[in-house]
Formats: sequence, structure tokens, C-alpha cells
Amino acid sequence: ALVSLRQLLDHAAEFGYGLPAFNVNNLEQMRAIMEAADAVDAPVIVQASAGARKYAGAPFLRHLMLAAVEAFPHIPVVMHQDHATTPDICQRSIQLGFSSVMMDGSLKGDGKTPSDYDYNVDVTRTVVRFAHACGVSVEGEIGCLGSLATGKAGEEDGVGAEGTLDHSQMLTDPEEAAHFVRDTGVDALAIAIGTSHGAYKFSSKPTGEVLRIDRIKEIHERIPNTHLVMHGSSSVPQDWLAIINQYGGDIPETYGVPVEEIVEGIKYGVRKVNIDTDLRLACTGTLRRFLATHRAEFDPRKYLADTVQSMRDVCIARYEAFGAAGQA
Ligand code: G3H
Ligand code: 13P
Ligand code: NA
Ligand code: ZN
Repeated sequence: ALVSLRQLLDHAAEFGYGLPAFNVNNLEQMRAIMEAADAVDAPVIVQASAGARKYAGAPFLRHLMLAAVEAFPHIPVVMHQDHATTPDICQRSIQLGFSSVMMDGSLKGDGKTPSDYDYNVDVTRTVVRFAHACGVSVEGEIGCLGSLATGKAGEEDGVGAEGTLDHSQMLTDPEEAAHFVRDTGVDALAIAIGTSHGAYKFSSKPTGEVLRIDRIKEIHERIPNTHLVMHGSSSVPQDWLAIINQYGGDIPETYGVPVEEIVEGIKYGVRKVNIDTDLRLACTGTLRRFLATHRAEFDPRKYLADTVQSMRDVCIARYEAFGAAGQA
């Protein structure tokens, strides 16, 4: 059944677990997420970015998500708009049937320029007003994602600040977070603690200096009833990097957010954990390996089925690690 984000996160808070929120662009990702959830009895958050809507087109994206709800009627599913940069995008998503939207007012409408507090409150409050009137949940963001070591937002196009950010922009202030939740009425709050989008988060296994799990604890102490959201939370599995590179890829050494650090965050109020890159890596590694080892094969169903299998395994691992297995 289609449910709101608020319903799932309230349950997650009550029972002390976290939910991975996987990005979806196509049939194979959608199948992988749903088959994994079905296998371990986990509730589902699927999210679509503006880039996903551009890639698949709104009707395909909408019906892909509705197909998931129809094919797995026993699993609660949230249809979430990821990183909308304007209230108009949120409104369109609600019209399409999404049950949750993220108004990311941490950046201006161009998705690149850091905004100020008043702008962020203004656009987020506007979305909360019309979304709540429709029973749709709202995620807001305070602080900008970015590397505390380099000040860079990350490699993804369309979802990150341009240029260099300073430390205070990339680390959510607990006091400001409390004011933001009070001023906007959001259902969930994305915070910045040193993660960034894409595969290039950290140049070595992250220490507490560059990945500030301690900041999550401080925010949670200040606003214990607010559901926190971690973006840029792919773990960038070293074994998938190795497979990609073994079969012709060329990805430099890089590190993600260790699963055990996310699990620590879940102890302190993190309820939604955004993951896109890990499924991209598993898909690419599987495809490269398959094509290199089945040189006469040309039926796309063969290699795409293999990618579903690998992405499904990544999803299962996250559902289990975050405590979402058995909660559907
Ligand atoms: O927010 C970041 C997600 O990884 C979406 O990325 O804009 O390339 O679809 P995308
Ligand atoms: P990753 O790039 O770490 O998978 O983050 C995805 C994300 O935050 C989507 O909003
Ligand atoms: Na989101
Ligand atoms: Zn994000």
C-alpha cells in the first residue's frame, strides 16, 4: 500500500530502526528494491530525483512506482520526491501521486547556490502548507552537503552547491535546526555532517574529523522528536570498485560512509538514509563482469536480470543492517 513518509518514520522511531531510501530511475532498480524488501519483510521508501524524472519521463516514473505498490500489495511503500529545488516541483509531484516530497531549500532554485535561513524557511513552509493539506509528508534540509576536507559538494550533477563551501555551511547547527523545525513544521529533517553525493566522498576511510556522527547526537539531543535524514550515505563498497576495475573500469581510490557509522547515527534519531550510488556501482560492476565473461550473449534480459540480483543483495544488506527487516 502507498503510505506517507511520516507514517513509516514514526514507526521507525517507535521501534528504533532506520530505513534506507533508494533512488529509482528504471525497472531494474525498482524490481531490486521491491524484491529485497519482500525477501526480508521491510517497508520501502523509493525516491525519484529531478534527474530521474528527466530520464524516464513523469508518466513512466509514476507508473513504475505504482506498479511496485500493485505488485507487492503487502508492503508499505513511500513515493518520495528527492531534492526538489522549488515549491513548484513539489506541487507537480503531489499531482503525480507522490506521498512525500523533499523541499531542499538549503540551495536556491538553481540547485547550486547556497541560500540563507529566511529563504529556506519561506520555501519549505510554503510546501508544508500545501503538502499537509493533501496528506503528503515533507522533508526539509538545513546545512549544505559537502566534504569537510575539501569544501566540495560532490560529483553529482544537479544536486549540489557549486564552488567551495565553508565549514559552518557544511555542518548543521543544532540550534538553527531546532528553529527551522519550529518555523516550518517539516516531518523529517536532512542534516549536513560531512557527507556528499556520489562516489567521491572521502579519500581514505573516514575519521570522526570528516564524518561528524557526534553532530547527529547533538542535534538529536536538541530535537529528540524530529526524524533525521542522512543524505550522501552510500558506503561505496570496495569489492564493487574492485570488480568494476577488474573488468575494464577506471575508478580511482575512494571511500563512502561505513555501514557501522550509519548504524551509530540510527541510535541517535536518523530514520531515513539516502542511497543511490551503491546501486549504481553494483549495477555497473555486474554489467561489466557479465559482458566480459559472456561474450556471445546479446539478450539484454540476461545481463539486466544479473544487475537486479546484485542490486537486490545490496538492498537486503542495508535493510538488515539498519534494522528495517521484519518491520513491514
Ligand atoms: O541526490 C542525489 C541522487 O543521487 C540523485 O542523483 O540527480 O543524478 O538522479 P541524480
Ligand atoms: P549517495 O550518492 O551517497 O548514494 O547519496 C544519495 C542521496 O543522498 C540522494 O538524495
Ligand atoms: Na530526499
Ligand atoms: Zn541527497
